[in-house]
Order: sequence, then structure tokens, then C-alpha cells
Amino acid sequence: MATTISPAPPSTTSRVLNARLASRIMSADEAASLINFGTRIGMSGFTGAGYPKAVPLALARRISDANLRGEKAQVSIFTGASTGPELDGALARAGGIQLRLPYQSDPETRKRINAGEMEYMDIHLGHVAQYVENGFLGKMDWALIEVTAILEDGLLVPSSSVGNNRTWIEQAEKVIVEVNARQPAELEGMHDIYYGMQPLPNRQPIPLTHSGQRIGTPYLRVPLEKVAGVVLTDSPDRNSPFKAPDVSSRLIAGHILEFLTAEVKSGRIPSSLLPLQSGVGNIANAVLFGLLEARFEDLTAYTEVIQDGMIELLRSGKLTYASATAFSLSPEMMEKVNAEMGYYRERIVLRPQEISNHPEIIRRLGVIGMNGMIEADIYGNVNSTHVMGSRIQNGIGGSGDFARNGYLAIFMAPSTAQKDAITTIVPMVSHVDHTEHDVDVVVTEQGLADLRGLSPRQRARLIIERCAHPDFRSLLLDYQERAERLSFGKHTPHLLHESLSWHERYVRTGRMRPAAD
Ligand code: COA
Repeated sequence: MATTISPAPPSTTSRVLNARLASRIMSADEAASLINFGTRIGMSGFTGAGYPKAVPLALARRISDANLRGEKAQVSIFTGASTGPELDGALARAGGIQLRLPYQSDPETRKRINAGEMEYMDIHLGHVAQYVENGFLGKMDWALIEVTAILEDGLLVPSSSVGNNRTWIEQAEKVIVEVNARQPAELEGMHDIYYGMQPLPNRQPIPLTHSGQRIGTPYLRVPLEKVAGVVLTDSPDRNSPFKAPDVSSRLIAGHILEFLTAEVKSGRIPSSLLPLQSGVGNIANAVLFGLLEARFEDLTAYTEVIQDGMIELLRSGKLTYASATAFSLSPEMMEKVNAEMGYYRERIVLRPQEISNHPEIIRRLGVIGMNGMIEADIYGNVNSTHVMGSRIQNGIGGSGDFARNGYLAIFMAPSTAQKDAITTIVPMVSHVDHTEHDVDVVVTEQGLADLRGLSPRQRARLIIERCAHPDFRSLLLDYQERAERLSFGKHTPHLLHESLSWHERYVRTGRMRPAAD
């Protein structure tokens, strides 16, 4: 039976209770020196929470030194999702990342990927564990995992995210554990690590029917002989602050709340709604704040990340349970939550991302997915990842897991970007992440288009009328009318030579509208 963490004020040594692993405590530099270049490393970390903070920095220093000596020093980095500057930022700056997956949002990493200097593979977050466990991505050499503590029997208390940690520990040949004394000891008991996923073809149903349900254990298991090093740290997670909701995000939130109210009135969903999933970004956070003032009660969330808005909903009592795989809080909110972790432990469950993003559960619970987008086209295809079809912003994250499998897929963005030079409602998306078959609702500050039950031509009229910015509406209507007359086929009318010319024009001139307009 696990012995819990000492209630005494956390110190670095009171966090490593297993004698065998305590004997492997070493410096970050020593741990980094164990890692050979050319290896694949599965690291903890999900949206700036629970990522290792010392060994990646030490590894980046080693790589920089090796590169100065003319060696080609790189490693492949797999994580849960995005991380922080000490991981993605430092390794990218050192030129040390050969292949990165599955999601990132670090400016330096983005710059390198878009300069063609780093390979990046953007995959659904719910697919990563299965890909790795079935060998699609090669052999895992190392797991580098931040934890809150190591208990007497060697069980690991996870930290502020779970991500793919179970998979990394099981699949990697060797493990390095960072024990971060800054993570609150009260995190112990919040996690639910499911060990019941059988390999194919003998997989059984996952017995989860409610957001707050626990089906696993609070601890990560690691074979002690695999642990090559334990590194003690004491550093905070680094998440970016959210912008205060602006007029546009408030309007978007208002449209969504009005839509959900009508859904309840029509009897399609209960007044407690269905479990909510809320994506990354400021607008998603604004929608959660909007729910604070709405009339819904007894809400639940089955999502990936716990943002500030979700914490406020929990505090208000409107949200009863939230299931996720990570925290994604502003620094101020993180402080507040850390101070009252005991309260939140009763209301939040952090799970592996293969469970938080699992199609079976998302479909069973009937999750309402609300995610940001870069652009949507008049037929309802959505681009979540690429600016002008070629430049990656972040990645698809879990948006596809929820859009494809949820009860409702809602995508939202302001109707214009880059100081109104760009319309986010376009004739044809410049990159497709979510097809018209998966998208139920498109919403901008202008309004909301409910696409359910509509043919492509009907969808086009509604999206232009409800969601496009007035400055671009007549251009879009003109395109659509001409396409309906002149298109090769009339089911999804397009003028192929023109459909992407708007993006092309922006790349050349910095504006999407034609010069004469
Ligand atoms: N064309 C060009 N640039 C665009 C654009 C468009 N159509 N739409 C947005 N942008 C730019 C913005 O101008 C901004 O640029 P800046 O950094 O230079 O200011 C940047 O993209 C981010 O836009 P912003 O409006 O601040 O976005 P956000 O914080 O609401 O995030 C996404 C929007 C799409 C980037 C974000 O939701 C995302 O990464 N989604 C994919 C992953 C996902 O959905 N995960 C959810 C599952 S948990």
C-alpha cells in the first residue's frame, strides 16, 4: 500500500520516499549526460503544465556544446501536448529537435518548424498512445517525467498534467524522473490512471459513464529497475496568462449560450447540458466565463484542459465535476488553485490523454465540443492549424478527437484576423483539419450558423449570412452565386481557379480583398 506524502511543508527530499530511487538522485546535467543523441524521448507535459524543467535545459546545453564542436546533435521529442520555454523553447533554440510531436505552441519551435528546420508531426492527441504502443513511431528510448513525489513503494504521484506519461513509462527502455517540490502535495489523489486498456484484438469497453468517475488508480507505476536517474526540481509551471474577454469573444460566447439555451428548450439536451469540452485559447476561456452568468446548473466537463473559466465555474458551484488531462491556468489562477488544491481534488479528475480524448467515451457521454479555429469555408470545412495553408500555428490538438466523436462540434473565431486584413470565412479553407461532415456549428462575433441537416449550398448561404464580416459578405456572396452558376458540379459549387486566390493575394499583398475593392 502506498504511503502518502508527508504533510510537512514540502521539501525536495521529503518527496522521494523510496530508498532505492533516492539512491539514484543526481543533478540535471548528470541525467542529461545519460541520453544519447539520435534517441526518442517521451516527455511529460501538457499545455505548459507538468513538463520536466531541469533535464531538458541541461540537454539543450549539451546539444549546443556538441553543435559548436560540429557534431550533429539532436533528439526526437514526444510529449502530451505543448510544454514550456525550458523544454520546447530551449531545445528548439539549441537546434536540438529532430522530430517533434504531437502538439506545440512555443514561438521558437513554431519558427523553426515554419522555416523547415525541424520535422513536426501533428497528430490527434487521442491517437498518440496507440501509435506508440503499436510501434508506428519507432522504439521509445527514454521517458522523462515530472512527478509530484515518489512514494515509499516506488509509486509516482503525477503532477499538474498526465498526458501520455503512462505510455512513455511503459514503452521507454529507461526512465528519468523529475520530482518537482513546487507542485502541491495535495495533488495526490486527483489523478485517475487507467491500466485496463488491453492490446488489440482483445480490447474491452472502458467502464466510464460519468465525467467525475474514477476507473483507475491515482498513481503511475514504474518498474524501479528502469529508473536511471531522479532529479529534484523546484520550479513553477509556466502557462501564459489569458487575455481578458474582449467584445468579440463576449459576442461569440453570447451566441453559443443562446444556441445552447434553444437546444435545452427544444428538449434535445437537459438543462445541465451535456459534458462540455472547451478548447485552448482566449475565446474558449471567454465562453466558460459566459457560462457563469447563464442559467444552466449542475454542469459537467469532459475535456482536455482546465482553464481559468472552468475554475470559476467550479467555485460558483455551477460546474460539479471536470475531467481533463491537464491544468492550463494563468499564473494568478494557478496560485489560487494551488492554495486550495484539496477543494479541487474532490471536483477534478486528471486522466491519461488516451482516456480524456477517447472516441468511445466522448461519444458515450455526448460531449459538446467547443474549439477555436483559424478559418472555416462557406461549406463548413474547418482549418484549425495552418495560416495561409502552409504556416503551422499550433496543431490540431484534441479538436479532432472531440469534433469527430462528440454530440456537437462547435467551431469559433472572430470573423476577421490581423487587423481585419483577413476574413476567417473563406471560399475554400487553405488546409483542412475538420471536414464538413464533422462540423455542426460555426460561430463568429457576427452570429452563429447551425449547419445540422443542411446541404452544402444551404450551408454556404447560412454561413455567409450569419458569420461573415460585413466587409467581406458581398465578396463571398458574389463568389458563391458565380460558383453556383459556373461550377463543374452543382453539389458543392466551386470555382477552383479562384477559391484559394484570396489566400494567395494575402501572401502577395498583405490583404485578402482585391485592390480595386
Ligand atoms: N489567418 C491568419 N492568421 C490568423 C487567422 C487567419 N484566418 N486566424 C487567426 N490568426 C492568427 C491571429 O491573428 C493570431 O496571430 P498573432 O499571434 O500574430 O496575433 C494567431 O493566429 C492566434 O489567433 P487568436 O485569435 O489569438 O487565437 P486563439 O488564442 O483563439 O487560438 C487557434 C485560435 C485556432 C490558434 C487555437 O484555438 C488552436 O490552436 N486550435 C487548435 C488546437 C485545438 O483546437 N485544441 C483544442 C482541443 S483542447
